Amino acid sequence: MLEQIAEIKNLFNKSLQEIKTLPDLETEKIRFLGRKGLIATLFETLGDVPQDSRPVIGQQINALKKEIEIHFSELKNKLNLLTAGLQSVDITLPGRALPVGKRHPLHQVADQIKAIFSSMGFEIADGPEVETDYYNFEALNMPRTHPARDMQDTLYISDNLVLRTHTSPVQIRVMESRKPPIRIIAPGRVFRRDTPDASHSPFFHQSEGLVVGEDVTFADLKGVIESFAAQMLGREIKVRFRPSFFPFTEPSVEYDFNCVFCKGKGCRVCKNTGWLEISGAGMVHPNVLKNVGYDPGKISGYAFGMGIDRLAMLKFNINDIRILFENDLRFINQF
Ligand code: PHE
Repeated sequence: MLEQIAEIKNLFNKSLQEIKTLPDLETEKIRFLGRKGLIATLFETLGDVPQDSRPVIGQQINALKKEIEIHFSELKNKLNLLTAGLQSVDITLPGRALPVGKRHPLHQVADQIKAIFSSMGFEIADGPEVETDYYNFEALNMPRTHPARDMQDTLYISDNLVLRTHTSPVQIRVMESRKPPIRIIAPGRVFRRDTPDASHSPFFHQSEGLVVGEDVTFADLKGVIESFAAQMLGREIKVRFRPSFFPFTEPSVEYDFNCVFCKGKGCRVCKNTGWLEISGAGMVHPNVLKNVGYDPGKISGYAFGMGIDRLAMLKFNINDIRILFENDLRFINQF
């Protein structure tokens, strides 16, 4: 008798696993609990059990019956819920699109700059936006009285602290902290005392580039900039280098890309020159190399700047720099 009880318990456990629908459940309920079901049969055979063990066996059958009833009713609730759910959801409806954020156009361009230079073996470096006078000017060969300080109107925090006016101080920080060979770009925000208009903003974004080592030449600089231009804006883009002056490079140039709007023919955006100015560059000045403890007789290098906002404006055909910083979703969502 005890064996039979155990066997039915086993059957029941198996059955619980297999029931998937309400009709399944009904069939199984009848099989176990029906008037001619397995439990009823058990009760019938109770008569064959010796008188004195009848109460104990009877209790066990009752307990099993209770257990089966409880499980069946729980399962019924669960199946009811599922069926109701399925009926109220039209599974043929198309899914609802979740609103997804995206990268700001400036970040997209910065990411692309990083990707292109990484593929050429450059590392990404970083420096503080609040800089000391030493890193922003002095170490870059611009002593206190140097007229070149006027090239950039500076926002001072205190006598000795400025909001960096360019990313060039990162050159110094990187060179001070390690030995050549070095190949880095350093994208970031810079600040100048400027009245905002379509092409000026009191803050904007640059990326510095710096390569130092043995036998680094101006030809390497040209090659890297030309390769960058082709990857960023397309093979047909031409690059032009014009002699210029920066205290921390010698010789110095400014470089321009072929106007992407008129393909160099001349238009309003390029003021009919066919060229758009990107930034400055040059061979790292011997004084700068000395300032970081390098021997200018052995080590040479080139540095370049890059206007990230300017490149974004070129790439996305934006004619006002201020709109990049207003975070108007109607604008940002277009990219
Ligand atoms: N720091 C310069 C600027 O902000 C650009 C530059 C970088 C020039 C590196 C030469 C070398 O205009």
